[in-house]
Amino acid sequence: MAMETGLIFHPYMRPGRTAKQTFEWGVQNSVACDKAGFTSMMISEHASQIWENIPNPELIIAAAALQTKTIKFAPMAHLLPHQHPTKLAMTIGWLSQILEGRYFLGIGAGAYPLASYMHGIRGEDQETERLNDRVRESLSIMEQIWKREPFFFEGKYWSAGFPEEEEALTEEDEQHKLANYSPWGGDMPEIAVTGFSKNSPSMKLAGEKNFKPVSIFSGIDALKQHWKIYSEANIAAGFTPDRQRHAVSQTVFCADTDAEAKSEVMNGPIGYCFNKYLIPIWRRFGMMDGFAKDAGIDPADADLEFLVDNVFVVGSPDTVVEKLNTLFEQCGGWGTLQVESHDYYDDPSPWWNSLELIAKEVAPRVKLPGATAVAAENVAA
Ligand SMILES: Cc1cc2nc3c(=O)[nH]c(=O)nc-3n(C[C@H](O)[C@H](O)[C@H](O)COP(=O)(O)O)c2cc1C
Repeated sequence: MAMETGLIFHPYMRPGRTAKQTFEWGVQNSVACDKAGFTSMMISEHASQIWENIPNPELIIAAAALQTKTIKFAPMAHLLPHQHPTKLAMTIGWLSQILEGRYFLGIGAGAYPLASYMHGIRGEDQETERLNDRVRESLSIMEQIWKREPFFFEGKYWSAGFPEEEEALTEEDEQHKLANYSPWGGDMPEIAVTGFSKNSPSMKLAGEKNFKPVSIFSGIDALKQHWKIYSEANIAAGFTPDRQRHAVSQTVFCADTDAEAKSEVMNGPIGYCFNKYLIPIWRRFGMMDGFAKDAGIDPADADLEFLVDNVFVVGSPDTVVEKLNTLFEQCGGWGTLQVESHDYYDDPSPWWNSLELIAKEVAPRVKLPGATAVAAENVAA
């Protein structure tokens, strides 16, 4: 099967952008991606970061719902420790019904301590394992809400229930009927889990529950490790891991020539964002170490140009195909390339051109190399 293309909208808008501009850019991207043939668009949720200024991904998804035809949407991710599971379960169910199935659900524990703090989670409770405990409890409550069967649960973090439907008083009586906010077509949406750290607890959860795994590209070793953790847990739970379900987000930019693409990334919004925001943050999260190890250099020497030449996937369509095929051979490949969006709000034409080239000239030429064989080999290793 050929690789699918998606967009991940964090959205990396430079400070000073208004809420209206960010929102408009999100909806414009959804329409452009739908037209270009992207299969999915994921939208982030953040409470604290000025460069990632979307607190409610569901609002952009709702605005895009009636302006798009085939593209699927996912919040990536709703941060389960940050809100009451019943409220979230209903938001998700209703939106999935509005989109008539063009919806899947991304869940996460939350990457930023300041955002956890804003939601009353501090100190040791911010450790990944503890946040994941909250994720598990929230998810089990949401699953029960979507089933619409009576229960009441008093948990470690939340209490919730689903009431019994009352008897009708007369034959015409409809006041007793309960609204149905379960996801379109069933009691569960497709669920995707984001993994980030090398020994990712989120990838383990995804494997155990047979959820769709979503990784940020942070070096070959980390990506192989994600697949190993996911597939081991998936097999142990009685499922068959499928690399086609794995989505990997990556910085990708395509132009008509290699030189044009590199210059645009170095001097345009992508380079600006990396210099001001992402390089410092990647150093803090240790992501530079994996990239430097892949290239055999000191992490301190890894700058924007190093990333453009060695880590990002930048170039003409032929070069981008070649780079992706090399990556796929090294790590076994993935099903969906989730292109990281950037702030081309002022002059979108190079960005629209890049999206068109990626969907139409690159994706059909990138294929998973013997997915089942690589999965088995990684699990055995
Ligand atoms: C593709 C992707 C998207 C993510 N989006 C968000 C997000 O919108 N908001 C957020 O706080 N964290 C986001 N995260 C981070 C997750 O919430 C979480 O901290 C991380 O995936 C935990 O990974 P781990 O279990 O591997 O340590 C994202 C991670 C990935 C890989």
